[in-house]
Amino acid sequence: MSLSRRSFVQTLGVGGAGLWITARGREASLFAQGIQPLAGPAPSIILSSNENPLGCNADVLAAIKNAAFPEAGRYPFATAEEVSELVAKKHGVKRENVLLGSGSTQILRTSTHVFTSKTAGLVAAIPAYEECADYARLMGHPITGVKLGAGLKMDLDAMQQASKGAGLVFYCNPNNPVATAVTGSDTRAYLDTLMKASPSTTVLVDEAYFEYGTMPGYETMIPLAVTNPRVVVARTFSKCFGMAGIRIGYAIGHRDTIKKMADWDGVGNISVMALQGAKAALAVPDSWVKEEQKRNEAARNFTQKWFADRGYTHTDSQTNFMFIDVKRPAREFREACLKEGVLIGRDFPPYEKTHVRISIGTMAEMQKAVQVFEHALAQPSKAAA
Ligand SMILES: Cc1ncc(COP(=O)(O)O)c(C=O)c1O
Repeated sequence: MSLSRRSFVQTLGVGGAGLWITARGREASLFAQGIQPLAGPAPSIILSSNENPLGCNADVLAAIKNAAFPEAGRYPFATAEEVSELVAKKHGVKRENVLLGSGSTQILRTSTHVFTSKTAGLVAAIPAYEECADYARLMGHPITGVKLGAGLKMDLDAMQQASKGAGLVFYCNPNNPVATAVTGSDTRAYLDTLMKASPSTTVLVDEAYFEYGTMPGYETMIPLAVTNPRVVVARTFSKCFGMAGIRIGYAIGHRDTIKKMADWDGVGNISVMALQGAKAALAVPDSWVKEEQKRNEAARNFTQKWFADRGYTHTDSQTNFMFIDVKRPAREFREACLKEGVLIGRDFPPYEKTHVRISIGTMAEMQKAVQVFEHALAQPSKAAA
């Protein structure tokens, strides 16, 4: 009998599930985190993992069914080759500049594995997406966290100071969980200085939310990465393309850097389902992506305005989630929302006493969710008492 995730967690019991969550501590644990209160119903609105609430383009699902299923008995290498070529074509780079991953998670782990060591550690903003830091910790490699600056954007001067001698800088732009982004010119200036000041440091520019970044001056670092062996860009199909459960992402970088990464971990654990899905996603017209950007922006604006009208401030979101000061511990707000079936993001230290991350659902979901937020905010905060 197959166990649903809910019954799996129930089987484990609170202690077991709790341990697992502590050990994982990432997006992957969120669903379990949400259903951990064993008494309550499973959340009906999921705003916790920055997914596209509409899922992927119908062509992606059709490709998985029609093209991938017949290949299911074969290893993925030939299809991976084809998809790598298509990714290269999309970005105007060569095949040698592309490495596919089972989600961009594989790219983040591979970069951390290849570029950090016991003596040259990881540098990342605090908070930033935790995958690289979690993996560095697992390997016993040092981690330096750099506080955010004004507007909860990365503080590039402080990052510069901390980056000297690092093995890898995880440069998350836009940055999850705070949703802010740094312009292309500021990023290039940071990289320019760093390249001279710290000759053995590689920088991983994570552009998971690239498609949602609309602020003036926001740019991809792909053109720089293909010419500079010490800059690599990570992208994913999980966010705007709505393929989080299908698991595929990629790195773009200089040939030598991509080779080093591919030598450590190749494409053998990407399924043909994911590859055929990615192939179809790469053929999705730009108009589909624009539609998704518009849909996200409208639902995000609605929700941000709702909070702002009640005196709760948010950062400048360049993503499909928002980071809001709800003036109470995230846990209180989250638990109150979950009681009414809305699951939002986990704690993000050092902001867990005041801020929450809310992923953007559909407009209909956000219209329902704000009613739940209203109730949660109406409760006096225990922390303030
Ligand atoms: C900034 C960032 N990078 C990478 C990932 C990993 O995504 P995936 O492995 O689904 O590509 C996430 C997931 O939430 C993310 O927020």
